[in-house]
Amino acid sequence: MDRSHGNEGLHVVMLPWLAMGHLTPFLHLSKRLAQKGFRVSFISTPKNINFISKNSSSSLPSLIQFISIPLPNLPNNTQLPRNAESSMDIQNSKQPLLKDAFDLLQDPIAAFLREAKPEWIIYDFTASWIPTIAAQIGASSAYFAVFSAATLAFIGPPNVLLNGGIRPRPEDYTVSPSWVNFESNIAYRLHEVKKFFQREKSDSVDGRRFAGSISGSDFIAVRTSPELESEWIKLLPELYGKPVVPVGFIFPTAGGEGDEDHDEKLGVAIKEWLDQQAIDSVLYVALGTEATLTQEELTELAHGLEKSGLPLLWALRDPPESTRKVSEMLPEGFEEKLGSRGFVYIGWVPQVSILGHPSIRGFLTHCGWNSVIEGLGFGRVLVLLPIINDQGLVARLVEGRKLGVEIQRNESDGSLTRDSVAEMVRLAMVEREGEALRENARRMKRVIRDESNGSCFQTFIGYLEENKKFHC
Ligand SMILES: *[C@@H]1O[C@H](CO)[C@@H](O)[C@H](O)[C@H]1NC(C)=O
Ligand SMILES: *[C@@H]1O[C@H](CO)[C@@H](O)[C@H](O)[C@H]1NC(C)=O
Ligand SMILES: *[C@@H]1O[C@H](CO)[C@@H](O)[C@H](O)[C@H]1NC(C)=O
Repeated sequence: MDRSHGNEGLHVVMLPWLAMGHLTPFLHLSKRLAQKGFRVSFISTPKNINFISKNSSSSLPSLIQFISIPLPNLPNNTQLPRNAESSMDIQNSKQPLLKDAFDLLQDPIAAFLREAKPEWIIYDFTASWIPTIAAQIGASSAYFAVFSAATLAFIGPPNVLLNGGIRPRPEDYTVSPSWVNFESNIAYRLHEVKKFFQREKSDSVDGRRFAGSISGSDFIAVRTSPELESEWIKLLPELYGKPVVPVGFIFPTAGGEGDEDHDEKLGVAIKEWLDQQAIDSVLYVALGTEATLTQEELTELAHGLEKSGLPLLWALRDPPESTRKVSEMLPEGFEEKLGSRGFVYIGWVPQVSILGHPSIRGFLTHCGWNSVIEGLGFGRVLVLLPIINDQGLVARLVEGRKLGVEIQRNESDGSLTRDSVAEMVRLAMVEREGEALRENARRMKRVIRDESNGSCFQTFIGYLEENKKFHC
C-alpha cells in the first residue's frame, strides 16, 4: 500500500548525536521516511552534513533537507580542537567536552524548531533537552536508539540510570541485571567495566542523558527487529512503561550490491585489489571511527592476522589528535610480509561497498551496532573484537546467536594475543567447526534485509501518523 499521500505535510526533524555511528542510521531512517512521503529536516553541524552528504549515495530524496548549524565554541575551552565536530575528530577521553558543546546547540535548534513547527522531532540520547522544547512548540518527540535492545535493557530503565548506587562495583556489571527476567549472557567482562569506571564522571552524565531521553519521549524507536532480539524487545516497554517500537534494521539501501555507483564508491585501489582475490575468501578488518587500539593491541592483532595466513583487507585510520601515524605503529615490514594477500588501507573507506564485494567472506569488527548490521546484511561471518562503550554487549549478543566468534582477551587486564587472533579468524573463516557460524551468518542476509512484510517499520509509521490525527 502506498501511503505516501497520507503523509504529505507531516514534517519530521532528525537530530543525531555527533558521531558517525549515529549520523549514519539517522540518515538511513530519514531516507525511509522520505520514501514514505514525510518531509524531513536533518540537523547537524556543517562538517558532518558535508561529510555524510558527500559519502552518501547520489540518490538522496529531495524531501530531505539538511539544516546546518555551526557548533558553538565552549567558553574558554582549549581542549577541544577547533575543527572538532564529531567523535571521530577527538580522543575518546574528550567525548564529554563534545557533549557539552553539543548542549550549546539548544538555543539555535529551539529557534529553528519554533520557525519550522514540525509535527515530530526524532532525537538522539545526547539531546535529552528536546522533549522540553518539543512541548513548548506543540510538537511530539521520539527518542531513536541506535543501540541493540539488549544493550538498552542492560543499561537499565531511567531510575537505574539516575542511580549509580544500584550497581556500585565494577563486578555488578559482569552479571545479568536483576530486571532481566530470563536467562541471558549479556554482561560486561571485568576488564571492559574497568575502562568505564576510569571515566566515572562522564558516564554518570551519560546516564542522565539516557534517562532524560527515555523519560521525555512519547515513544521509543529502536534500530532492531524481533528476528534477532525478540525477548529484549518484549522487555523494554515493561522497563520503560511506554511503547517501544523496533523499526527494523533499516539496512542501507545504497552502496552495496545492486547500487549503480557501487564501483565508483569503492575507489580504484580497493576495487582493483578485491577484484583480484578469489570469491568468498577475504577477511575485512575494520574497527570503526571511534575506538583506537593501544600499541600492544595493534601489534598482537597485526601478528595474528599475518599468522592466520588468510587474505585480508585492513582499513585503518590515524588516531585523532596524535602526532603518531598508524603506519608507524604496525610491526616492521608488516605489509611486505603480507604481500599480495593483504591490503592495508589508511583513511576513510566505504564500508558498505566493501562488505558487498563478492570477494569478502568475513568481517573482523569492533562490534559497533551499525557495523554488525552491515556485515550480517551481506551474510558475512563475524570475528568480534569489542573495544569500548556498548561493543562488549553487542559481541555477547552476536556470539550468543552463533553468528560470530569473539577474540579472547585476558579477563583481568584485557590484553589479547596473536595466537587467539589467528585461531578465531581461522575458526570463523575456514575451519570445519566454523561452518555452522558461516551458515548462520549467510542466513542473516535475508533476515536483515527482509522488509517484505515490513510490519516493524509500518508500526513506526503508524505511530507518527496517529499523532497527526491527534493534532487535527
Ligand atoms: C571563561 O570565560 C568567561 C566568559 O565567557 C569569563 O567570564 C571567565 O572568567 C573565563 N574563565 C577563565 C578561567 O578564564
Ligand atoms: C592476565 O593478566 C594478568 C595481569 O596482567 C596476569 O597476571 C595473568 O598472568 C594474565 N593471564 C594470562 C592467562 O595470561
Ligand atoms: C515476517 O513474516 C514472517 C512470517 O510470517 C514472520 O515470521 C516474521 O516475524 C515477520 N517479520 C517481521 C519483521 O515482522
